[in-house]
Formats: sequence, structure tokens, C-alpha cells
Amino acid sequence: MNADDETMRHLNGTFDRDGTQRLITHLIGMWALLGHGMWAVEDRASGEFLGRAGLYYGPGWPGVEVAVSIRRDRWREGLGTEACRASITWGFATLSLDEIVTFTNQGNAGMNGIARKLGMTFQGEASAIGPWKDNNVYAISRAEWGDCPARRPDCSWGR
Ligand SMILES: CC(C)(COP(=O)(O)OP(=O)(O)OC[C@H]1O[C@@H](n2cnc3c(N)ncnc32)[C@H](O)[C@@H]1OP(=O)(O)O)[C@@H](O)C(=O)NCCC(=O)NCCS
Repeated sequence: MNADDETMRHLNGTFDRDGTQRLITHLIGMWALLGHGMWAVEDRASGEFLGRAGLYYGPGWPGVEVAVSIRRDRWREGLGTEACRASITWGFATLSLDEIVTFTNQGNAGMNGIARKLGMTFQGEASAIGPWKDNNVYAISRAEWGDCPARRPDCSWGR
């Protein structure tokens, strides 16, 4: 997934195997330091790798960010939305956060689509957040998200 140009188009380019190892240690370290991070996304039935998703935070971020990448041959099946929905639900259930944000390049149709589908509110544009340029910023509050799954029957987390 990290070696695919199209998948990494809005993520500042591809990673080779060494770069991927550095990324994985960084992502696992976030759990120890911040109490949240990203998961591997797997097919429930087969265990096949589908991507990564979770709650990420970096210097200069407007808040804890829901983030996702899905293997390109499985795009447009709703997996990115499902993974972000589960991540946000876990975040509000587990962490003392008032809101969860996301941001993405204005040209990233997939991530802008996920934010809209999850009912996140457009906050405005940000020319730079850390290394990321020309962003749309979205947020959703704990109150807006509600008490999943009771108040969000479309959410599969916890079932
Ligand atoms: C962004 C990404 C995770 C979306 O994953 P996905 O599983 O394809 O997303 P979904 O199927 O849940 O799509 C959600 C909505 O986004 C929009 N969307 C997704 N891909 C799109 C595309 N290529 N063109 C236009 N709209 C798109 C649609 O509105 C879609 O809803 P619909 O299928 O009901 O119309 C995936 O494209 C990806 O991994 N991209 C590379 C990594 C990346 O940029 N991650 C985000 C970093 S900020």
C-alpha cells in the first residue's frame, strides 16, 4: 500500500520497505506515548490486510485526527468510512476528547467524502498543517457523534 503512487498521492509520496518500517514503529510508539494511534484494518472473515486507520496526532495538529488509508484495489466499498466510524466511536468511548478532527488535501476526493459521510462539519481551509498543504479541516464533537451504537445504528463497533 505504501509503495503505490496513487494511494500515496496526498501523503507526500511513497515509502519503501525501510520507510514503512520507520512508519510502523512511529505508529506503534504513538500508542505508548499518547494512548491512541492507528490499527491495521483487516477483513473480518479472512484476516487479509486492507489498510490502516485510527486516531493520529502530530505537532501543530488542530486536534486528534481520524486518519485512514485503504489498499487501492478495495477503494469505494465503504471500508474507509467504516474504519473511520469505528475509530471515532472508539475515541469518544475511550479518551477524554471533546472533538475529533480530520483534514486532508482539498483534492483528496476520498477523504473529503468520508468526512462528509460521517457528518463532520467543515471548519475551513488551512494552507499548512505540519507537512500537509492546502487542507480542508473538519471536526465532530462528542455530543454530535452521540452514544454509539445506541444512537448510531449504522455503527458496527461494539456489536
Ligand atoms: C481516502 C480513502 C481512505 C477512501 O477510502 P474508501 O474505502 O474508498 O472510502 P469509501 O468507500 O468509504 O468512500 C467514502 C466516500 O468518499 C467519496 N469518494 C471516495 N473515493 C472517491 C473517489 N475516488 N472519487 C470521488 N469520490 C470518492 C464518495 O463520496 C464515497 O462515498 P460513496 O461511495 O457512497 O459515494 C482511500 O481513497 C485511500 O486510501 N486514499 C489514499 C490514502 C489517503 O489519501 N488517505 C487519507 C489521508 S488524509
